[in-house]
This record gives sequence, C-alpha cells and structure tokens, in this order.
Amino acid sequence: MATEEHGVMGPDVENDAEGQLEVSLRPQTLATYIGQQKIKDELKVYIAAAKAREEALDHVLLYGPPGLGKTTLAMVIANEMEVGIKTTSGPAIEKPGDLVALLNELKPGDVLFIDEIHRLPKVVEEMLYSAMEDYYIDIVVGEGPTAHPVHFPLPPFTLVGATTRVGLLSAPLRDRFGIIERLAYYQPSELEQIINRSARIFTTAINPAGAKALAWRSRGTPRIANRLLKRVRDFAQVAGKDEIDEASVDRALTMLDVDQKGLDATDRKMLLTMINYYGGGPVGVKTIAANIGEEAATIEEVYEPYLLQIGFISRTPRGRLVTPAAYEHLGIPFPDQGGKA
Ligand SMILES: Nc1ncnc2c1ncn2[C@@H]1O[C@H](COP(=O)(O)OP(=O)(O)OP(=O)(O)O)[C@@H](O)[C@H]1O
Ligand SMILES: [Mg+2]
Repeated sequence: MATEEHGVMGPDVENDAEGQLEVSLRPQTLATYIGQQKIKDELKVYIAAAKAREEALDHVLLYGPPGLGKTTLAMVIANEMEVGIKTTSGPAIEKPGDLVALLNELKPGDVLFIDEIHRLPKVVEEMLYSAMEDYYIDIVVGEGPTAHPVHFPLPPFTLVGATTRVGLLSAPLRDRFGIIERLAYYQPSELEQIINRSARIFTTAINPAGAKALAWRSRGTPRIANRLLKRVRDFAQVAGKDEIDEASVDRALTMLDVDQKGLDATDRKMLLTMINYYGGGPVGVKTIAANIGEEAATIEEVYEPYLLQIGFISRTPRGRLVTPAAYEHLGIPFPDQGGKA
C-alpha cells in the first residue's frame, strides 16, 4: 500500500511544484480513497459490472466544490477499470478538431477526463452528444465547395466529466451521463485520516491531537488539509519540533490567519462586509463580490458553499443572509429584529 501511493499516475494538467505534490498524494484505488463512502459503494458495483460484461463504464459526472477529490476519483476510476486515461479540460478543447484528436487516441474502454466540463464551447459540446450516446461523431472536412461530412466511428469509451458548477451544464449534456455523483465536504474524522496518510507520505510525524486540530480547520476539503499540513510542517520544523502537535497547528494557523472553524481572511471579510455594510443581508453575490474584490463566480464556487454547509450564511430569493451562528463565531452581537439597517 505504501509504495503504490508514491506513484505518479497518468497524464495530468498540473506541473508546478504544488501540483506535483498533489499528484503524489493522490490515492489510486477505491480502497485508499478516503471518505465519500456512498459514491465508492456505487462505483464499486458499476465498475465490477462493466468489467464483467467487458464493456466501457457508463459516463460519469462528478461535481462539487474545488479540492474534494474529483480529479483524483476520475483517475481512480480509470485505474480500477484497468484502462488508460486522457486528461483535458473544457476550455482547452477550443474547436471540434481538438475533440476529434482526443477521441482518436482512445483505446476501447479508455477514460476521457474533461475537467471544468461546464466550460466546453457549445460546438464541441454538441459533438459530444453522439460520441457519448452512440460512439460516433460526424464532422465536416474541408471548406467551401469541397466541404463534406465524414462519419467517424469511435471505440466505446467512458467520459468522466468534472465540474464545480453543475448548474451551468446544459440539460442535454447532463442527461447523457449515466452516473452522476455529487462530492460532499469531508467529515473531520475523514480529514484526519487523509492528514495522517499525507504525513506518512511526507515522512512527517504528527500526533493524534495535531491531526485532529488540523482536520477541524481544513474546511472539509482534502486539498486544504494537505496544503495546511505542509505549512504546519514548515513551522514545526523551524521551531525544532520533531513531531507536529496541537500547539504547532495552532501557532501556524494563527499566523496563516485560519481561524478555529477553518475560515480564512476572505471568508471573514465576506461575512464582515455583509454585517457591517448590509445589516447581515440579504445581499446579492455580485454586491458582495464587488465589495471584497473577488469574482462573483469564486464566491459562489469556493467561499459560499462552505459557509452554507456550516450554517454561517443562508440563501434567500433576495440574496444571502448572515446567520446568528456566524455572528456568534465572529463575536458580534446578533441584531434584534428592528435593529437592521
Ligand atoms: N478521498 C481522498 N482521499 C485522500 N486524499 C484525497 C481525497 N480526495 C482528494 N484528496 C487529496 O486532495 C487533493 C485535491 O483533490 P483533487 O485535485 O482530486 O480535487 P478536485 O475535486 O479535482 O479539485 P478541483 O475542483 O479544484 O479540480 C488531491 O491531491 C488528493 O491528495
Ligand atoms: Mg480537479
């Protein structure tokens, strides 16, 4: 188990140092993929059935907030199916020809992983329909009077799509996925396992209280848990500690401005803006975005889902509201009914 986890697998879009690190931390099998139990249980059945029938696995759509393990799961699926995987992303496929080139390289049963599938150009998306449904594409070759349609049969393949914005997928595309899975935020106990596993890969010692403290402050997100672990490790090393304990976690995360609930400076800025300028809401996402200098999409994809999850904001038709729990966390008295601006 320990050796398998070090392998760099498959092609990947990431190539910076942080990206390489993520790759080495990626579990490669369903058994080593922590959490998301229901998804794993289902996939186990679908994968076993497809393998028994010697068919390609049905197309899979994975959605949920960033850093929860969609890319990792796509690679696990290919690995468990014992097939190859080609990795790309919606914005990288600019024209139909790009898609043809990708599909052309697939061997029967292979996985084509399209990250950020909500950002596929429309013409490309439309070509995918027949590719997904009946394994062919019709393309027009040549221009003007010499233009002619070419029918292009494809090997059976599995499209795995990932998105943080499932609401932006068109119905025809969404409906062509036989398996649709929503990744949920991880429980602290699961993050603790992920942290312990990553620490082993880093050959860093972390004691149970340290792992627990870190897990609670990782926003339910494995990628954040791994990032924070790296930073905490740096602090512990400089402090001359041979083991990360709760005190080192505390000190490092305080310096990093990550609070007891795992909220960072942007989360707090967002809540404080809503409280101080809009009486706690309701406020529209665009207004919040303009006030704190972030993209509205980033707020919707990254910040808001976690704040909703922990019950610090709620959604109303007129915008977002800060909840009493968030006021309490920030140490601000909740205004009584008449007190709102
Ligand atoms: N279930 C898991 N068990 C262990 N580690 C995990 C798990 N899920 C994710 N990770 C770790 O978290 C990191 C981020 O996961 P991944 O890149 O798959 O997220 P993602 O959902 O694709 O994010 P994005 O939406 O930003 O592309 C991985 O490098 C991996 O180490
Ligand atoms: Mg990803």
